[in-house]
Amino acid sequence: MNNEALKLHRSSFGDPKNIGNVLSKEEALKLLNDWVLNDKLQVHMKQVGFLMKKYAESKGYSAEVQHKWYLAGLLHDADWDQWPDQHCRKIIEELESRKIDPEIIRAIASHGPRYFGVEPETEMDKMLYAFDELSGFTHAYSLMRPTGYEGMEAKGVKKRLKDKTFAAQVSREDIADATEKAGISLDELIQFVIIHQKFALSLEE
Ligand SMILES: [Fe+2]
Ligand SMILES: [Fe+2]
Repeated sequence: MNNEALKLHRSSFGDPKNIGNVLSKEEALKLLNDWVLNDKLQVHMKQVGFLMKKYAESKGYSAEVQHKWYLAGLLHDADWDQWPDQHCRKIIEELESRKIDPEIIRAIASHGPRYFGVEPETEMDKMLYAFDELSGFTHAYSLMRPTGYEGMEAKGVKKRLKDKTFAAQVSREDIADATEKAGISLDELIQFVIIHQKFALSLEE
C-alpha cells in the first residue's frame, strides 16, 4: 500500500455543533467488537484508550474530557482490521455520521501524519500520536520478558528501540517525531506507559 492512498486530503473533521456528543463506553466497545475481529488489535486499541484516559486524568482534566481522550484512543484503529485500505477514513466517516464530537474525530485523523496527511494540533491529537507506536512496542517488550511489566525500566525499552530487529514494524521515526511534537521526553513517556499499561485490560473486562 503506498502512503498516498490513505491521505485524507481534508483538514476539518466533524461538526462543531456536535461538541460534547460522545459514545458511551458500552457503545464504543460494541463498535470495537463488531469491527475488530483480531484480538491483538483489540488489545492494542484498549491499551491506547486506557493510556489516553490516564494521561488526561494525570493532567487533572474533567471526567468528560478523560472520556473523549479514551474514545479517541480506543477507536483510532477501528477500521484497520477489516478495511486497511480505508484506514482511518472509514472510522472517521462513521463517527461523523453518528454526530460525534469533532475533537475526537480530529485526534483519530491525525494519529499518523505521514500516512493520513493531517498534522496533530491539539494536546489530545499529539498524545494519541505519541502513545500509539510506543504502546504497542512496550507491550511487545513485556511479552518477551519473563516477568512481563514487572520490574520493567525505561532504559530496557530504550535499548530495544535501538535494536532495529526487535518489533521491526514499529516506526522509531514516528516515535521520535511524536515525542518532539508532544513536547514530552521519551523517558517520561516510556515511564508513563510502563506504569499504566499493565492495568489497561483489567479496566475493560
Ligand atoms: Fe492506525
Ligand atoms: Fe494504533
